[in-house]
Amino acid sequence: MEKQIEELRSNAIAAIDKAAKSLNDLNDIRVKYLGKKGELTSILRGMGKLSAEDRPRIGQIVNKARQELEDLIAEKNEQLKQEELETRLINERIDVTLPGRTNPHGHIHPLTLTLLQIKEIFMRMGFSVEEGPEIEKDYYNFEALNLPKDHPARDMQDSFYITEDILMRSQTSPVQARTMEAHEPNSPIRMIAPGRVYRRDDYDATHSPMFTQVEGMVIDKGISLADLKGTLETFLKQTFGPKVKVRFRPSFFPFTEPSAEVDISCVMCKGKGCRVCKGTGWLEILGSGMIHPNVLKMSGYDPEQVSGFAFGMGVERIAMLVYGIDDLRLFYDNDLRFLKQF
Ligand code: FA5
Ligand code: MG
Repeated sequence: MEKQIEELRSNAIAAIDKAAKSLNDLNDIRVKYLGKKGELTSILRGMGKLSAEDRPRIGQIVNKARQELEDLIAEKNEQLKQEELETRLINERIDVTLPGRTNPHGHIHPLTLTLLQIKEIFMRMGFSVEEGPEIEKDYYNFEALNLPKDHPARDMQDSFYITEDILMRSQTSPVQARTMEAHEPNSPIRMIAPGRVYRRDDYDATHSPMFTQVEGMVIDKGISLADLKGTLETFLKQTFGPKVKVRFRPSFFPFTEPSAEVDISCVMCKGKGCRVCKGTGWLEILGSGMIHPNVLKMSGYDPEQVSGFAFGMGVERIAMLVYGIDDLRLFYDNDLRFLKQF
């Protein structure tokens, strides 16, 4: 009997020591020896068969072994719990020193940057910023600008027609009439109107069938060509620096009289002549002139009371010169190598 208990005891100790690799293993061992149907428990149950003199002695041995095993299991239990905690801490460790994942930041498109700068310069001179629709009535795009149907000058801006009377606007000039109509007749106006325009045009280094213009219009008592020149020169010097050469070249627009196109010295070749300026040393960036009396009249203004000037500039051309870009198509290619530079 004593031998049997001793064997059981040493088996259990060895099992606890070696076999138990996890809390579950340890629990199995506890059940095997000390559980209700466990081996040591069944010895205790069989005590009744022992003689009266053996019983206390054997009982003592069994209880001692039981206590010993319980202590060992408790100790092992603590140890395993600690080990499990440590492995979890290692496995689930978060490296807080790793740099976080950042979202890639976009870049402001060079055309948008140029527009922002143009707006800022004119807003400092007291201009408001107006808007007009890209899908426009023939009336505003041409007729209200002194270009009746069949006027030959319409050919300069062949457009995309949606119906006989509706087209993709070929210029931002229709915002002139729209702005006058929104004002009391003869009240002063000082506005710019940026936006996209569309033409049946080439797609080359300096042309696109869709491009951006900024319209400008000033109406008040006694506005003269000197105001037009002063305003545009101020704008151009702030945009291209005080050394830029500006050229006012006589031109024709049915809605201005007199009319002038404005060129600036090509910044790509410093005026020597290159692909961008087509060898001329100059680049046309805007059209302008004194508002034609008919245009004022058609929108309810009285040319005997007030006068004004207007201009329309190509934003792509200006952006090319500001940033030294030699091909307008780069603005629309969406090549990240290009866009990331801004
Ligand atoms: C006009 O569009 C007139 N509405 C400008 C104007 C407004 C004159 C008010 C008088 C009074 P023009 O067709 O020249 O004019 O175009 C104006 C500018 O747009 C040009 O100087 C040029 O810089 C730019 N531009 C013209 N066509 C294109 C094109 N296909 N691609 C890129 N830019 C263009
Ligand atoms: Mg022109």
